[in-house]
Amino acid sequence: MSTTSRHRAARTIAAIAVAALVAACSDEGGGGGGGDAANYPDQNITIIVPFSAGGPTDTVTRMISEPMAKDLGAKIVVQNVEGAGGTVGAGRVARAEPDGYTVLMHHIGMSTAPALYKDLDYKPLEDFETIGLVTEVPMTLVARKDFAPATFQDLVTYVKANAGKVTLANAGIGAASHLCGLLFQSAAGVKLQEVPYEGTGPALTDLVGGQVDFMCDQTTNTSGQISAGKVKAYAVTTPERVKSLPDLPTTTEAGMPELQVSVWHGLYVPAGTPQEIVERLSEALKKALADQGVIDQMAKLGTAPVPATDATPDAHRAHLDEQLDTWAKVIADAGVEAR
Ligand code: MLT
Repeated sequence: MSTTSRHRAARTIAAIAVAALVAACSDEGGGGGGGDAANYPDQNITIIVPFSAGGPTDTVTRMISEPMAKDLGAKIVVQNVEGAGGTVGAGRVARAEPDGYTVLMHHIGMSTAPALYKDLDYKPLEDFETIGLVTEVPMTLVARKDFAPATFQDLVTYVKANAGKVTLANAGIGAASHLCGLLFQSAAGVKLQEVPYEGTGPALTDLVGGQVDFMCDQTTNTSGQISAGKVKAYAVTTPERVKSLPDLPTTTEAGMPELQVSVWHGLYVPAGTPQEIVERLSEALKKALADQGVIDQMAKLGTAPVPATDATPDAHRAHLDEQLDTWAKVIADAGVEAR
């Protein structure tokens, strides 16, 4: 072998050795994932909300983040990353460092997105660790205050007679408000004019302002406006009435029993986050859901924490798995194509 080729060979071997060393060092950090579980948390934690500030998902996140921060001994920052029915924010967390410092709050939208987006840039079951379920929020059918229909049945008659003219606000394809709107249109046999927003926070502002006609949204967002008479409310989409809105009939009482939907929420971290960190976050979540302040705030807004047995990684994963199948079928049956 000539001198030059010996030198070249030596350099190659050296390069390989260095690469192996670098790989070995980086793996030392945390055994499967980047987080340093032993000292977790030693910096601020960010919870990404994939919808606008002030909306229902933001409201629930800010409610639990305070007691969670107290238990974890670290500051929790809530960051809104909106867009595409929640898929932009979810994608951001799927690609984040699996070190426990970037957490996602998402809802039923995590289970509808695969059936509604052809090029979704994440896989709900593969790209995330589940931390635990949080709450399941009923939805309400509400309209601008001066909207003509008085009762739910009047509403159905009206939208059938004025389908193309009625505007239906939602928070984008795959959002809970979009899903509920789909189910209502399918049950009433109508196609309304959908008006997408980055979240139902701003959509509700426009509904109160009369810029849009109608919306299906979570009690955690609508309760205040309904109780203040700022919007017209027709029904709630759960089998039982909501205690904080006793006069609001259920869709079953109102004559559309097939319209049943409530919005489950859960926390996620990127796949590969050390199990100890997943468990630590789940523990803090359980404590937050047992906090009397959280229980009272949720009750005022028509919902409640899930039982502690559901605020676990396994229960959450099992629920997500089942919901992915359920909504894929419902969306296909409703004849909605993925975009
Ligand atoms: C929001 O927080 O804006 C909502 O959860 C949006 C939705 O899914 O309808």
